[in-house]
Amino acid sequence: MLRFLTAGESHGPRLTVIVDGMPAGLELDAVRDVNPDLRRRQGGYGRGKRQQIEQDEAEITGGVRGGYTLGSPISVTVANRDWENWSGPMQVEAAGFKAKKVTRVRPGHADLAGVLKYGFDDARDVLERASARETAARVAAGGVARALLRAIGIEVRSLVLRIGPVAAEPPTGDVDWEAVEASPVRCPDAEASSRMVAEVDAAREAKDTLGGTAYVAALEVPAGLGSYAQWDRRLDGRLAQAMCSIPSVKGVELGAAYCAAQSRGSAVHDEPRYEQGVGFRHRSNRQGGLTGGVSDGETVWALVHFKPISTLLSPLRSVDIATGEETNAHYERSDICVVPAGAVVAEAMMAWVLADAALEKFGGDTVDEFRAAASAHRRAVQNLR
Ligand SMILES: Cc1cc2nc3c(=O)[nH]c(=O)nc-3n(C[C@H](O)[C@H](O)[C@H](O)COP(=O)(O)O)c2cc1C
Repeated sequence: MLRFLTAGESHGPRLTVIVDGMPAGLELDAVRDVNPDLRRRQGGYGRGKRQQIEQDEAEITGGVRGGYTLGSPISVTVANRDWENWSGPMQVEAAGFKAKKVTRVRPGHADLAGVLKYGFDDARDVLERASARETAARVAAGGVARALLRAIGIEVRSLVLRIGPVAAEPPTGDVDWEAVEASPVRCPDAEASSRMVAEVDAAREAKDTLGGTAYVAALEVPAGLGSYAQWDRRLDGRLAQAMCSIPSVKGVELGAAYCAAQSRGSAVHDEPRYEQGVGFRHRSNRQGGLTGGVSDGETVWALVHFKPISTLLSPLRSVDIATGEETNAHYERSDICVVPAGAVVAEAMMAWVLADAALEKFGGDTVDEFRAAASAHRRAVQNLR
């Protein structure tokens, strides 16, 4: 139903995203609906100097008139301020172009795989697009998706549960989301938060990097999104693909998946219950709000695992693709830990998949039609019995 495509290089002039399939009549404003999340993506303890240069701001350049979507493709751009420092090596035109080649490929980054794929002699041709700068454009698309979800009462949130060896307990009840945003690592547990900060400082001191785990949740998701009827319509599979497409994400758990794999069935499955006026719910939510690839009325939640950043200030061994000789990897200004920022990207991807699934279920050329179908469905689910 919904599609988005991004374009643009990390140090090119700007990123562009085209969002196609949004209904007409959705109130959309870049300053209100996109920029706050762009800022959250730039934050988090452990980011590198690039974030001091960039102050991401979205500009809507198509698909919106007078503050409302038109039903036509929505285009959004985000300028790269760092482009000024790279306009030579990143120039578009051939005349006078002089590349400063990157040939000492970084272990864990896309450099070598991309060079092998395209036959490039300059890893910059790869890294400029493989770089997670692209995720700013995804967050912009996510802002549009979140506006649509908000129209039917769904909110997507995230927090950080682990940075390297330092872990906080997963949420069990209501989360203090203000405490999440106030924490430098987006972790509401103050004690764990300060240990995470210390761990990032220690990694920086050691010229090393860290990964970790984010918890991402969608609240008030109605039952019935996705389908068990066909493999590619399962909401669990769609969410897993979206999460694993985020650079440096190497694993995703839908609900308490790894814990379930180590437990007996009696300790795992969510028992249904019925409540007058509320309808059918569950006594627990270990399944992450998804059963049979369909949302089951509980909070949809996932644990997203990020590997450590691959660009190291004290580089690992590598090879020079120009000579084949052993050497140390290239270093380029880089982050130490991006889990707090990656969690914001994961929110955007979860919002995107849910907006797509909601449009599939409720349809509508206009937001009013979409909203009315969603309300009718919520009422029908409440009064099923
Ligand atoms: C928000 C964010 C920022 C990132 N910043 C960096 C960075 O500064 N340096 C780096 O080497 N990798 C960074 N990464 C990870 C790389 O983009 C990623 O490891 C690389 O593209 C290879 O893809 P893969 O790890 O999924 O295999 C970042 C990832 C995210 C989500």
